[in-house]
Amino acid sequence: MTSLHPFPEIHEDLMVVEDILLSLPREAGVPVEDILSGAIPGGKRIRPSVVLLAGRMLGGPRRSLVEIAAAIEMIHIGTLVHDDIIDSVPRRRGHDSLHTLWGVSPAVLAGDFLLSAGLGRVASLGDPGLVSVLTDAVCSVCRGEIRELANIGRTGTKREEYFRVVGEKTASLFSAGMVMAGMVSGAGNETLYALENSGRLLGTAFQLVDDIADITGDERVTGKVPGTDLRRGIVTLPVIIFAEMQGNRCIPEPLCRGNPDEDAVRDICREIRASGAIEECQKAAGEIAMETRKLLASFPDNCYREALDRLAQEIVGPPEHGQ
Ligand code: IPE
Ligand code: IPE
Ligand code: MG
Ligand code: MG
Repeated sequence: MTSLHPFPEIHEDLMVVEDILLSLPREAGVPVEDILSGAIPGGKRIRPSVVLLAGRMLGGPRRSLVEIAAAIEMIHIGTLVHDDIIDSVPRRRGHDSLHTLWGVSPAVLAGDFLLSAGLGRVASLGDPGLVSVLTDAVCSVCRGEIRELANIGRTGTKREEYFRVVGEKTASLFSAGMVMAGMVSGAGNETLYALENSGRLLGTAFQLVDDIADITGDERVTGKVPGTDLRRGIVTLPVIIFAEMQGNRCIPEPLCRGNPDEDAVRDICREIRASGAIEECQKAAGEIAMETRKLLASFPDNCYREALDRLAQEIVGPPEHGQ
């Protein structure tokens, strides 16, 4: 799996974040250490990058930003460990997923450990406001994941419902990261509001591209098994657009029935690709990234803002960026 553009502006701070993350298993001690050590390496570290860039853009203190960045990645990884159990996904980041290696129960607990470690790290900064923003985001991720499950098999899922789930399960953590970066940088309410919105848009564009990759992606690039959403009957934007293109036809039946066989998944994948729905979805992601960039223009003009702007473009850039 390749990473996004390396950001020289925050290179050193990202290295410190990496050290914190990689030392977590050792600090957790036996018997958690072995289980956790397989979960930490290999991610794109996009959320920590967003925290560091937003905070440095606003002149924030490096130490607190590094702590928040590490915490948010711990929480993110915890949600991935749980998500892979929920979706019965055998591989993640190019390796066996945690539950494949260790079994479901240890993996559930390792996910809990990561969530708590992240929350504890932010709590140790001593500002209850930060903890409140982060716990709200974790609750939101859970709400979104539950809503997504509840929508499986619903033939009439529409865009509005999709964006609601994405806002909850993915964009909330991006928003929280940017808002916390603003808080430790002494940002006023107006700036915090703009940060929250920028994070929401960035996270939404990110999820759209990930959902496209489920249909078009190559495991050697993404590190993830393609077709997972289709197999699970999770209705994503490319599928909704495909249904709209068929004259507002319902979501393809095999997806709603659940557990479609591999031939059906391959056929639906092919049909969606041939329909132009992927391009439409890419266009929608591009528009959201453009909206993000417009909002970013309201922040102080410096190299960190430029890097965030670049990141917004790269998220929706060509697939070789490794989504
Ligand atoms: C995966 O996130 C989950 C989504 C919200 C799409 P990432 O694509 O950031 O996963 P890693 O951390 O790079 O593995
Ligand atoms: C993100 O969505 C799920 C979480 C909030 C953890 P996905 O289900 O699309 O993430 P991947 O594709 O498994 O990484
Ligand atoms: Mg998943
Ligand atoms: Mg996905």
